[in-house]
Formats: sequence, C-alpha cells, structure tokens
Amino acid sequence: MKVSIIGGGGLVGSSTAYALQCGGVVSSICLIDANADKAQGEALDLLHGASLVADQRIYAGDMSEVATSNIIVITAGLRRKPDESRLDLINRNVDLFVGILDQMKSAGVKENSYVIVVSNPVDVLTYLAVKRLGLAWQRVIGLGTVLDTTRFRSNLAKKLQAPSTQVNALILGEHGDSMVPIWSSATISGLPIDQWPGFDVTVGNEIFAATKGAGAQVIKLKGGAGFAVGLSIREVVHAIALDSRRVLPVSTLVNGPYGIRDVCLSVPTEVGCGGTRKQIELALTPKERLGLQNSARVLRETLEQVESRLTGGPTKATATPASPMAIGRAIPRSAWTAGKK
Ligand SMILES: NC(=O)c1ccc[n+]([C@@H]2O[C@H](COP(=O)([O-])OP(=O)(O)OC[C@H]3O[C@@H](n4cnc5c(N)ncnc54)[C@H](O)[C@@H]3O)[C@@H](O)[C@H]2O)c1
Repeated sequence: MKVSIIGGGGLVGSSTAYALQCGGVVSSICLIDANADKAQGEALDLLHGASLVADQRIYAGDMSEVATSNIIVITAGLRRKPDESRLDLINRNVDLFVGILDQMKSAGVKENSYVIVVSNPVDVLTYLAVKRLGLAWQRVIGLGTVLDTTRFRSNLAKKLQAPSTQVNALILGEHGDSMVPIWSSATISGLPIDQWPGFDVTVGNEIFAATKGAGAQVIKLKGGAGFAVGLSIREVVHAIALDSRRVLPVSTLVNGPYGIRDVCLSVPTEVGCGGTRKQIELALTPKERLGLQNSARVLRETLEQVESRLTGGPTKATATPASPMAIGRAIPRSAWTAGKK
C-alpha cells in the first residue's frame, strides 16, 4: 500500500508521515511538496529512523507519484491565522486546492485509489474533490471531525480523570464553528457519561468549548497542529489499508441521512476497503439533529458561494449510479474488490 502525501513537507504532512512510519502498516510513504527541498529533508529525516521502526520505502517525489499511489493524502494548504475561522480560509485555499486536483488528474489518479482531504476548510474541499476528481464518492474522504473527536475524548479524559482510550464521545457536522457534540451516546468505560463521577452539564460545556477552540489555541502556541492531526489521519489510512471497517467521523458526501443532502460533512461512517462502506444514522436528540442540519446549511451556503465563483453558477455533486446511499446497506463487494490490497 503506497501512500503519497501532497503537502508532505509541511507540518501536517510530515507529522502524518511520521505517524504512518510509527504505525508500520503501509509499505511506501512518498512526500510531495511545492517546496521540494523541504519534502526531501523530511523524507531523509524519516528514513534515518527506519532501521528502528519498520521496513518501508520512504522518499520524496513529484506529482507523477500520484499515478502509482493507493492512497493520496492532501495536506497542502495555507494555515489558519490565530483569529481566522476555518471558513475564512476559503478564498485563499480553494484556488490552490483546485490547482492541485487538476495536477492530480493530469498525473493520472487511478480509479481505485483513495483520496483523503485534510486541507481546510476540509468539508468544502472534500466536496470539490468529490465533484472534480471523477472518483466514486466513497473513495474521497475528508478528515472531517476525526481530529475534533480525538481532542474531545482526550480533553474529557483529562478533566474527568478517565482512561482516554475508554472515552467514547463524538463530534459530528462541520470541522469548524458549527461542529456538534453528541452527548446522547457518550460513554466512559461503558458507563453513560452523565453517570461518571465529576461530570455535569457545566463541565461538559466547558470541555466542548475548549475542544472547539483547541485548533486556534495550538496555532497560537506552536504555529499549527501536527502530532494529533497526524495520528488522526493515520486512523483513516489504516482503516482503509487494513479494511478494519472502523466507524469514524469522517467527512463524506451525505445524500439522505439525517435529512441532509448534497454536502460533505461528518457523520459516523464505516471506513474500510472501498472507502466509505456505510453512513450510520444515530438516534440523536432533537437538539443534536438540528445542530447537524445547521452544519449542513452553513456548509451548503459556503459551497454555493464557492461554486458561483468557480463556475459562474451552483452545480450539484453527482453520486456514482451504483452508490448505495441507503443507510445501513453495505457497498456491494464487486464495487470495491478492485481496490483491495
Ligand atoms: N482537517 C484538519 O483537521 C486539519 C488540522 C490541521 C491543519 N489542517 C490544514 O492542513 C493544511 C496544512 O497545514 P500545515 O500546518 O501543514 O501547513 P504548512 O504550511 O506547514 O504546510 C503546507 C505545505 O503545503 C505545501 N504546498 C503549498 N502549495 C502546494 C502545492 N500546490 N503543491 C504541493 N504542496 C504545496 C507548502 O509548501 C507546505 O510545505 C492547512 O490547510 C490547515 O488548515 C487541517
């Protein structure tokens, strides 16, 4: 399994490469960056540790590597300024991103490869990638709220003195200001979270606020997120590479679930061979469901502005004819075995 990282010379891209190296699951890691020296330097540094970790091929390359990649992770982009919202990044990042998609198409993306979008605003850019790359929508996956969810779990664990790997609490919707905490299904070590000693609504609200502001705080303190986002991306890469079918809050094209249509945003999604295998519709509280629908509305409005600027008028993302949008219905095996490694 070869993973190429476009933006691999940057903080998120190089942290992803390091997380994948430590994971030791994928066989090749290729770093691609407009700053070729930076990509070369990061690849060299990673390679120097190879004898202590795993037998992988790690190198820097150019866009032509896309044609032989199984998974392409896009982390190239401009970083958010400390007080800038993710959606404010739009105008600065859309043009850059569309240029990268065009370069990928020229290089020849295989129809059975997977694309993982990380650059912000991730939900908007994931939608553009679904629409422009010509891959099945199931194979284009945005990181969505995977990072927000892991931050949420870790923050809850710290505050409530609980083991972080036993905290299960989701954030869904937009990777941005309208993200939604899902308290109704949150548990710690199998207990409903509201039965955990020390938890109450005020504590919960404080932790969610800290989680929502975590990205801006990290940017202010160290310039940008690296380690946690690298591990979050690894979670998605490994779910595909190992066909583990983990349910992750990735951003995918939603057409029906939760009454939402024609946007990419995070809902619980089974990820494995073939990419998105199932979008799961949880029984949410009315407040949570409305929150999710609000995220969809915010994103659709933004997309309409972006599309108008790019094409002179809004258009719709098309799902592949055979795509199983129905909730809970697995993608037929014939649709994904071609990509199995
Ligand atoms: N989705 C998430 O959860 C999440 C989390 C953190 C950061 N991000 C986003 O990831 C992106 C990267 O952040 P970063 O901190 O790594 O920034 P960075 O500046 O450290 O790295 C970006 C890299 O992209 C490269 N690049 C720019 N244009 C390119 C092109 N056309 N082709 C190839 N490479 C190109 C740059 O040379 C640079 O090395 C930003 O958009 C940021 O907002 C997303």
